Amino acid sequence: MLLSLAVERRVLFLGGKGGVGKTTVASALALAASRQGRRALVVSTDPAHNLGHLWGRRIGDRPTRLAENLQGLEIDPDATTDRHLADVGRTLKRLMPGSLAGEVDKHMDLSRCSPGTHEAAVLERITELVEEGMREHDLVVFDTAPSGHTARLMALPEVMTAWTDGLLRRREKSQKLGAAMRGLETGRERDRGQTLLGSTAPRDPLEERDEEIRSILLRRRDRLASLREVLTDPALSSFAIVLAAERLPVLETIELHEELTRTGVDVGALVVNKRSPAGRGEFLERRRAMEEEHLASLRTALPRVPLQQIPLGEQDVVGAAALEQFARLL
Ligand SMILES: Nc1ncnc2c1ncn2[C@@H]1O[C@H](COP(=O)(O)OP(=O)(O)OP(=O)(O)O)[C@@H](O)[C@H]1O
Ligand SMILES: [Mg+2]
Repeated sequence: MLLSLAVERRVLFLGGKGGVGKTTVASALALAASRQGRRALVVSTDPAHNLGHLWGRRIGDRPTRLAENLQGLEIDPDATTDRHLADVGRTLKRLMPGSLAGEVDKHMDLSRCSPGTHEAAVLERITELVEEGMREHDLVVFDTAPSGHTARLMALPEVMTAWTDGLLRRREKSQKLGAAMRGLETGRERDRGQTLLGSTAPRDPLEERDEEIRSILLRRRDRLASLREVLTDPALSSFAIVLAAERLPVLETIELHEELTRTGVDVGALVVNKRSPAGRGEFLERRRAMEEEHLASLRTALPRVPLQQIPLGEQDVVGAAALEQFARLL
């Protein structure tokens, strides 16, 4: 069932509480899809990367070959932030008077540590990778960080599109006001017989600057809107919540499902990992019975989302061969 998601969709997100098996399932899923001939990319968005640990090799912020048809990448939010701020700084310096260059640098330094910068950088990299994925891969699997912020991350394209729209509207208003003021100035000067701006007059540098800022904002808005379109198209993207059959993960899964659905993201699967095996003694039987109870409440709360169970293995999953075996369970 999980594999059918990876075969039919272009972008998959895996999320859930810490330690439930997101990185393992994401890697195994991407591997299984690559075995079916899909060019897959598995991406870790978690700053505490362990994609590299799982595969037993160094993986950086560039696609690294993991197997035939399969590449891996670990998003480096610091590098993305640096790149982003350098970009913004360059643009600002071009648009501001030269005497303010020092101020721009100071502002950029402060921005590096301000709330939201890191999140925006991860979102920017996700946007790039989804765009790249649509061009160069058949499937991109995102292994997300273990916290409530995944739902926020999925909501961010919508929030930021609305924010950019607001900014554009405000700019338009102040531009109109500015143009009217400049019109008044020109009128007054003309009255004094000093200036006569013909139709061939050079464009006002302020107008040019406004135009450039507007086009930067519009570009950003369009990219975020396209990302949102991909993420909220259930034919293209889906979210799989990984969990353990325990009380808190079940409650958190129900909440995460609600938040994602509200954002317009399709939740295509619930992956109940590390199920206690049957017939292995009284201790595990009791755990199984408890897990069944939690699963029953999960099914009652989310009866329509397909659910897949994966048994607890005897050992940790490390390396390509172990992942290959794990992938057969999907
Ligand atoms: N079905 C399983 N049987 C046995 N061990 C498993 C199983 N699934 C995952 N593991 C092990 O559980 C540990 C945590 O898995 P993993 O790193 O995939 O979780 P995670 O959700 O990505 O964690 P984090 O929230 O820290 O990113 C690993 O040591 C992994 O090998
Ligand atoms: Mg992980």
